[in-house]
Amino acid sequence: LRGRSLSVTSLSGLPLWDVQELPIEDLLFFEVAWEVTNKVGGIYTVIQTKAKTTADEWGENYCLIGPYFEHNMKTQVEECEPPNPAIKKAVDAMNLHGCQVHFGRWLIEGSPYVVLFDIGYSAWNLDRWKGDLWEACHIGIPYHDREANDMLIFGSLTAWFLKEVTDHVDGKHVIVQFHEWQAGTGLILSRARSLPIATIFTTHATLLGRYLCAANADFYNHLDKFDIDKEAGERQIYHRYCMERASVHCAHVFTTVSEITAIEAEHMLKRKPGNGHLHDLSLSFEDVVTPNGLNIKKFSAVHEFQNLHALYKSRIQDFVRGHFYGHLDFDLEKTLFLFIAGRYEFSNKGADIFLEALSRLNFLLRVHKSDVTVVVFFIMPAKTNNFNVETLKGQAVRKQLWDTANSVKEKFGKKLYDALLRGEIPDLNKILDRDDVTIMKRAIFSTQRQSLPPVTTHNMIDDSTDPILSTIRRIGLFNSRTDRVKVILHPEFLSSTSPLLPMDYEEFVRGCHLGVFPSYYEPWGYTPAECTVMGIPSVTTNLSGFGCFMQEHITDPAAYGIYIVDRRFCSPDESCNQLTQFLYGFCKQSRRQRIIQRNRTERLSDLLDWKYLGRYYMHARHLTLSRAFPDKFHAESAPPTTKGFKFPRPSSVPPSPTSSQHSSPPNSDVEDEDERYDEDEEAEKDRMNIKSPFSLGQIPHEKKKQHGEHKN
Ligand code: UDP
Ligand code: G6P
Ligand code: GLC
Repeated sequence: LRGRSLSVTSLSGLPLWDVQELPIEDLLFFEVAWEVTNKVGGIYTVIQTKAKTTADEWGENYCLIGPYFEHNMKTQVEECEPPNPAIKKAVDAMNLHGCQVHFGRWLIEGSPYVVLFDIGYSAWNLDRWKGDLWEACHIGIPYHDREANDMLIFGSLTAWFLKEVTDHVDGKHVIVQFHEWQAGTGLILSRARSLPIATIFTTHATLLGRYLCAANADFYNHLDKFDIDKEAGERQIYHRYCMERASVHCAHVFTTVSEITAIEAEHMLKRKPGNGHLHDLSLSFEDVVTPNGLNIKKFSAVHEFQNLHALYKSRIQDFVRGHFYGHLDFDLEKTLFLFIAGRYEFSNKGADIFLEALSRLNFLLRVHKSDVTVVVFFIMPAKTNNFNVETLKGQAVRKQLWDTANSVKEKFGKKLYDALLRGEIPDLNKILDRDDVTIMKRAIFSTQRQSLPPVTTHNMIDDSTDPILSTIRRIGLFNSRTDRVKVILHPEFLSSTSPLLPMDYEEFVRGCHLGVFPSYYEPWGYTPAECTVMGIPSVTTNLSGFGCFMQEHITDPAAYGIYIVDRRFCSPDESCNQLTQFLYGFCKQSRRQRIIQRNRTERLSDLLDWKYLGRYYMHARHLTLSRAFPDKFHAESAPPTTKGFKFPRPSSVPPSPTSSQHSSPPNSDVEDEDERYDEDEEAEKDRMNIKSPFSLGQIPHEKKKQHGEHKN
């Protein structure tokens, strides 16, 4: 590889890594994904959060490719002319030949360029393109699979675009990274047409893994035993699985998001990430696992995130006041907010064992006569007919009580003021007249309800078969007065424009106490990672990429607010008991302990920063260039590694877990918030303790040139 050698910035003592700088000015880098400007799940988060570091490195030579949807374009993209001549020629040529290709800047941090294809507009080509795919790799797509057909159109347009670009690049080399099977057809067709591009295929899950786990197969114990062709056929996803597998094998470099998915891919897709093809043993490289990062923003005041927790918690408390009107016989200051969120994959996301654990937690809190109440939110989108009346009524009743209290307060205040002006202390028994009392009584009467506070906020279309509601019915968690655990299913992603709970997802997470994500199938799992960087503790598992990554890099994860449930080496019942114990232990913490724990959680952020984890993507780009254009590029540097790096146990945690409640900060009944500042000293001590496996002096540390900066 040409170019200077530089070191990636060290954060909080994390290991440095020597990376050779690419001659960016002679390269173009494209990233292709169905979730570019189009939010479905975690892949959107990967692309959106990584944009800043990638755009900083690549400047104008970086461009994303995705599908066009009118609403997304209107709300997220500013249309403009492509500054790069090759891209401009490609866009113009396609538009001239009956396609609709849009170009603009995606209005997110880093404001990367995007090329968006209108899929519907090009659908008339479908039959011809089916023929092309068949000729390229003998994969046929049934007419009824709308999604797979859309992906073929998307892929055909991508390959067409890349052909036009490479015809006009003027000696520049092109790298293209394709994400997930949806983008894979573009890769298959580009390779079949021998386009001069260096390719990377990144999988964020395998189709079969997701399907088999959702069907409750004992997946991890039988990884090497599945007859995968048969399984795909029986599930009627054979053609999709072929598209995925062909993409994987066509790529110069194959990467995935975690070690656990690397193992899965080896069995389900028959290729190990990073390696050359299995049949070509001469190409043996270390795995290219590209763990998912986040775009971390530090507040100038260290404790700002704690203040935000208090602020957003009060908004959630308001919602709860309305939802439980007439049943508010619990103390909101002693109420903990727990939540699970994500795509609605009931067992894959662990909603099944979570509900079971909640039922056990309810029992434990009751028998131990705990004064803590737990309100649990399930934020998982399902088919609905809008909000239900009872839920809307709850918020209306709360508002009415608030208005009543305010009007009485005003009258009271005015009379008091008048009395003071006259130099009198008013008779407090007479300051409210009969009418005021009547208004207040009427308001109280309106809070009576015949039914229990609802367990769901929406009218569910599949109410009787919905897995969460069915389980709630079976375990009897109906929000009755005696329940210490209350549940609320919100079957829609959160939005700040919602008339019910007007908060966006980030605000909601900040306001909660604990995110619970006991997934069985989770290649990475952004939800607990997002909690971590916001300083909110979370539960994850040793079957999620994130959980394994944290287990590897933290000596005592629970002390840092990362509770890792063992779903790999024990029975479902044992996992459920462990989860119950985590939840019960969490409920026993004092406010002071929770504040300290949140401080510790937030300290892990650096580990999840793209500034740090982006290096794995850099490595994949080096590798693909050296494989696609071996005469011009060769990868000299070793792959990055974080192996051996660990956050030490926080200094205030006793060395033996038996001497205290499991990994909790020291208990104290004193609810003194100022105590959290002592924690800063502890944090500082811990920072000093963190040992890099590399000697910091070994690698010269120079600041990286920011390609985006001087051009903008
Ligand atoms: N998410 C969201 N709004 C919500 C709930 C979740 O935007 O109300 C996002 C969340 O921030 C996360 C993504 O959905 O980035 C889910 O990603 P994850 O990797 O956890 O799971 P996936 O859906 O990809 O399997
Ligand atoms: C933050 C705020 C405090 C608040 C506390 C509540 O630390 O800065 O003012 O008292 O959160 O914590 P809790 O875990 O009880 O919601
Ligand atoms: C997939 C996985 C999820 C991962 C995300 C981003 O959707 O299900 O675990 O976090 O991709 O890589």
